[in-house]
Amino acid sequence: MDESDDTRGKAVIQSLRFANETHPGEQGEGLYLHGMFGVGKTYIAAAIQNTLAERNIQSMLVYVPEFFREMRQSVADGTVTEKLEAVKRVPVLLLDDLGAETMSSWVRDDVLGVILQYRMTEKLPTVFTSNWDYDELEDHLSFSQKGGKNA
Ligand SMILES: Nc1ncnc2c1ncn2[C@@H]1O[C@H](COP(=O)(O)OP(=O)(O)OP(=O)(O)O)[C@@H](O)[C@H]1O
Ligand SMILES: [Mg+2]
Repeated sequence: MDESDDTRGKAVIQSLRFANETHPGEQGEGLYLHGMFGVGKTYIAAAIQNTLAERNIQSMLVYVPEFFREMRQSVADGTVTEKLEAVKRVPVLLLDDLGAETMSSWVRDDVLGVILQYRMTEKLPTVFTSNWDYDELEDHLSFSQKGGKNA
């Protein structure tokens, strides 16, 4: 999704289709919405949630920078696992503003990685929004299996 109305229109249509047709637990395919600041990613994510609610499908909209902050704080009181559970298991998870923050390899691998691994296995869809396109995000996160930066 970028500033052009055409691309934005396609993102909206894709999002509506997703919200109307997704079957969590049977079909794990999610969405990746990217675009510059203020084009309406969070707005679309909220619209997806409304449509899911009409279909009685539970969802959680998680603002990623805040969630990661909370997880880092939860290490001290030992509640990380407990807090991960809800996010792992919710039928549709919407991760808003992924990549807006610098991510430690702990957060990337032991928080985000654990969540996404579980959801993939259980066929639970995840919707991402980001200011980065997919390639940029990959660079930003430098995903690897064991942590650390690739090459
Ligand atoms: N389709 C729309 N109809 C009406 N208002 C909209 C629409 N899309 C976005 N807006 C409004 O435009 C503003 C910016 O939208 P939003 O916050 O969703 O953008 P964003 O892409 O999430 O921005 P950021 O990159 O800063 O997170 C908000 O005030 C929102 O209510
Ligand atoms: Mg936003």
